[in-house]
Amino acid sequence: MPPKTAENRLAFPKGFLWGTATSATQVEGHVINEWTDFVAQDGNHCRTACNHYHRYGEDIDWMASLGVKGYRMGIEWSRLQSGPGAELNQVELDRYLDILKRLKQAGITPMLVLHHFSNPPWISKLGGWTNPAVVAAFVDYVRKLVPVLKDHVYIWNTFNEPDTYASLCYLLGGFPPCRKWRIGSFRKVIRHMADAHVQCSGVIRRLYTNGVTPEIGIAKNWTVFGAYHKFAFWDHALAGLCHYLFNEFVVDAFMGGERGRASNYLGLNYYGRSRFLNFQPLLPAGGASPAQLKRLGIVCDDMMERYPAGLGVMLKQLYARYQLPIYLTEHGAASSDSDFRIHDLNQHLEVLHQTMKSGVDVRGFFYWSLLDNFEWQFGYSKKFGLYSVDFADEALPRKLTAVGEFYRQICRTSLLGMEPAGKKV
Ligand code: FCB
Repeated sequence: MPPKTAENRLAFPKGFLWGTATSATQVEGHVINEWTDFVAQDGNHCRTACNHYHRYGEDIDWMASLGVKGYRMGIEWSRLQSGPGAELNQVELDRYLDILKRLKQAGITPMLVLHHFSNPPWISKLGGWTNPAVVAAFVDYVRKLVPVLKDHVYIWNTFNEPDTYASLCYLLGGFPPCRKWRIGSFRKVIRHMADAHVQCSGVIRRLYTNGVTPEIGIAKNWTVFGAYHKFAFWDHALAGLCHYLFNEFVVDAFMGGERGRASNYLGLNYYGRSRFLNFQPLLPAGGASPAQLKRLGIVCDDMMERYPAGLGVMLKQLYARYQLPIYLTEHGAASSDSDFRIHDLNQHLEVLHQTMKSGVDVRGFFYWSLLDNFEWQFGYSKKFGLYSVDFADEALPRKLTAVGEFYRQICRTSLLGMEPAGKKV
């Protein structure tokens, strides 16, 4: 490989939004929603998490020293509304306003996520998003929330990964209420969330009377599905079914036909590929053992098969289809091997750069995640942080990781090509 000199560094466009992301349940702690009593596979729960609820000031300072220009964060419905139609909790609103004020002082643009895998308990009691009444309840909440925050934010992300949420709640049993193979419920959840997205988009647009055009979109998780063997009819058929159900059916519900008008950007989360061998998904998150993956030559982080080329294909396809600007609302790797994570990020950013050069309009990139955090059904075992958090220490100390240092240079220069000599995957 030629040495990286100033000349062969890859420059991203001026104004490209380098950011990072978290979600409320994963970092805040002190939250009362369906995750509060949920015990993850490592025996832990989210009740304290990173205590970001009390330590957001410090965490914003960490972000500022990283040099990120964007922060994708969740607003937690369960903190704000105690029942259908109720007024929003002023103390909690003030806390969010304080966060937004501090972000502004730090020169960081917020992207607010309205739904990220959690609901108030009274919504869960109604049957969650399988119940059509939840659509009106959510729209009512958003109608009350937006006027309070609108002078401090212009990028709204209504739903994070509706496909992941609906499938883990109702098909695969990983998220509460932990139901399995309820295909009807999966479809209802997607349709209701898509209805809520369209209605919320109208509400948000109407509430911006301050001359600002709000950016409104979803964050769609895009997994590339495939078969391990070239000639394996049933594995290909299963991959095709997954692609239809989790990718096509979902984007179509949110963005197809007239509904496309509800979004003026497309948010995409990209983690990689899932290939099947005799119906078994070959990834750690699907239960494949490291020994088996190694034997089959499959490169994974602690969750997914890495597939940087898939990022370019996805971006080109979805840009050609929707002609909307794109934000990469999440990408990251979980591993205790820093070299692996650095190399993974570098590879994905190289593909991103190439794809943008070919004409795809990508506006920003949000690394998942600012902090090591509560990774849903897996608990604290997956290390995604730009800052590590020592969960064994009550003080929950944050420490810049090597990948954090690598990303810091990118955020500060908007140049790629500083990859330290590390182990290649
Ligand atoms: C995404 C989720 C996010 C986090 C990452 C690893 O699917 O949106 O909360 O769990 O995966």
